[in-house]
Amino acid sequence: MDINNRIVTMLKENYNIEVTRIEQQTGGWSALAFFIEDKERNYFLKVYNKNKPSVVQWIDAIDGCTPLVKWLHDYTELNNNIVNPIFTKFDGNKCEDESFVYLLSEYVEGATIGENPLSTNQVNELARILGLLHQSTSKVSNKLREQQTVEDFGIEYCDLLSSFIHYDLDKKDDVVLEIVKPYCNCLLDKIDRMMFLSKTLYNKAHKYVLCHADAHNWNIMQGENLMLIDWECVKLAPQEQDLILVVTEPYAKQFLKVYKKYMNYDTPDIDAYEFYFLKRKLEDIWEWIKDLRFEGLVKSEDITLKLLRSTLIECSQADSFRTDIEKAL
Ligand SMILES: Nc1ncnc2c1ncn2[C@@H]1O[C@H](COP(=O)(O)OP(=O)(O)O)[C@@H](O)[C@H]1O
Ligand SMILES: [Mg+2]
Repeated sequence: MDINNRIVTMLKENYNIEVTRIEQQTGGWSALAFFIEDKERNYFLKVYNKNKPSVVQWIDAIDGCTPLVKWLHDYTELNNNIVNPIFTKFDGNKCEDESFVYLLSEYVEGATIGENPLSTNQVNELARILGLLHQSTSKVSNKLREQQTVEDFGIEYCDLLSSFIHYDLDKKDDVVLEIVKPYCNCLLDKIDRMMFLSKTLYNKAHKYVLCHADAHNWNIMQGENLMLIDWECVKLAPQEQDLILVVTEPYAKQFLKVYKKYMNYDTPDIDAYEFYFLKRKLEDIWEWIKDLRFEGLVKSEDITLKLLRSTLIECSQADSFRTDIEKAL
């Protein structure tokens, strides 16, 4: 059965939705994305392919994060900044068939920020959203809190990347070899650094807050209000997990001024910033290598190679990271 027919059947059986229009949209890196319409309203449907190994973690996250997103929507001042999840008629967070997992939500009429810079109003709004999210940690029920992933500073992706560099990279004479080879020493240095940071952070006492953990511009939409979408990465982690995406931007000081109205932030942890900065780069690099070599492409080869190249360059230029961050704060 083709994917559109599957979706129409699934929506009828699980949500009583009679689809009048269905259109595939440009999705992100983890799932296919569809615009859905019935007689009354529009929906956004995310479709995860169960056969892609790296997607399993996001599918597993749905049952923990969806009730939390619903709570944040219904019981905090974030109700206009979070998409309301939609449950199945059996009260499920998602539904599935043998190949796909489906996640339905309200449709946001608006534009993804994506490559555009945030305006000053959007920076202030994002600071309010992340401030309120972090602040909400003390109000969430124990039951919901216990369902959330807790940061353990694990670095499995570093082990996998290191093993790939040592044992697999040379096995194929392809464009991945050509692009990655000159950066092998740099990557292995960064992986060593991550081992040190991971151990250091694991042994430190932290105050954990509810973090979105993926609040980059492709997960922010401007509708009537600024909306933070794509919550499958949510976890209890140090504030730096969310703030890393902001403190490297020119608007860091403006953001922090507004953020501090909602949330205390007196002692920035530079180790945590460095950890989350390198984590993002190394995880992305490993993800794109996997797409190119093992799991099949999500975006075009051109886009994937371009991102791989630019992230390797960013990684190799990261030596002044700590001094740059201290200046920005
Ligand atoms: N509720 C929504 N309404 C309209 N568009 C959305 C909605 N959620 C996501 N999108 C669009 O789809 C893209 C991919 O969705 P996202 O949840 O970020 O998936 P991924 O996990 O693959 O990154 C987003 O960048 C955004 O452009
Ligand atoms: Mg996304």
